[in-house]
Amino acid sequence: SKNIVVAIDGYSSCGKSTLAKALAKKLHFIYVDSGAMYRAVTLYFLRNNVDINNTDEVAEALKNIHLNFHSRDYQTHITLNDEEVSDEIRLMPVSTMVSPVSAIREVRKEMVAQQQRMGKSKNIVMDGRDIGTTVFPNAQVKLFMTADPKVRAERRYKELQSTNPDVTLEEIFENIAHRDYSDTTRKESPLMRAADAIILDNTNITPEEQLAFALAKVEPFL
Ligand code: C5P
Repeated sequence: SKNIVVAIDGYSSCGKSTLAKALAKKLHFIYVDSGAMYRAVTLYFLRNNVDINNTDEVAEALKNIHLNFHSRDYQTHITLNDEEVSDEIRLMPVSTMVSPVSAIREVRKEMVAQQQRMGKSKNIVMDGRDIGTTVFPNAQVKLFMTADPKVRAERRYKELQSTNPDVTLEEIFENIAHRDYSDTTRKESPLMRAADAIILDNTNITPEEQLAFALAKVEPFL
């Protein structure tokens, strides 16, 4: 029988990865954090001073980038050319640059191709911005997540306390608002709800309730 794909898209920091991980764990599906891929590409661009307006430089850089997930435990473990970068890609320099980098057509083309290979024959939960619209338009289940931006900033602030204690709530709020704006207004596969995606606003609902909601949507396909 055909493999099952669950596509979870939505705004920045609205709990997509929390839900995607919980769902994948419960169902024994593979979890892929597509945002981590764009973040790792961004880290490479920053480290190597790649000029994002220079198409040749971008193409050359993409050839030299090898990403791998090693998903021991349904967390995001990603390597960039065999170096573990899972923590570094969450820091502010990458968060600030990731939206302009992920707006580049060549970058998206390469990432989408890799993502499609990952979901070709396996049961998978993938979260991102264009999973239900571009990467897997035929996904059996599509969720589109949203939440109040203030609530999202507070959640992300708490989450970053251990790894990134210097960051302020204001900085996070600005970053989220800015990424929402660039992600929804960019030319190349902007963030938008696929016509057949189910909206999940989690401003006032718990992770457990979100998991139950999502499981109920997947169950008919199991
Ligand atoms: O999911 P996360 O917030 O880590 O993604 C970081 C950024 O990567 C997003 O703000 C967006 O610019 C980009 N992204 C994307 N397409 C995806 C996943 C992430 O453009 N499928």
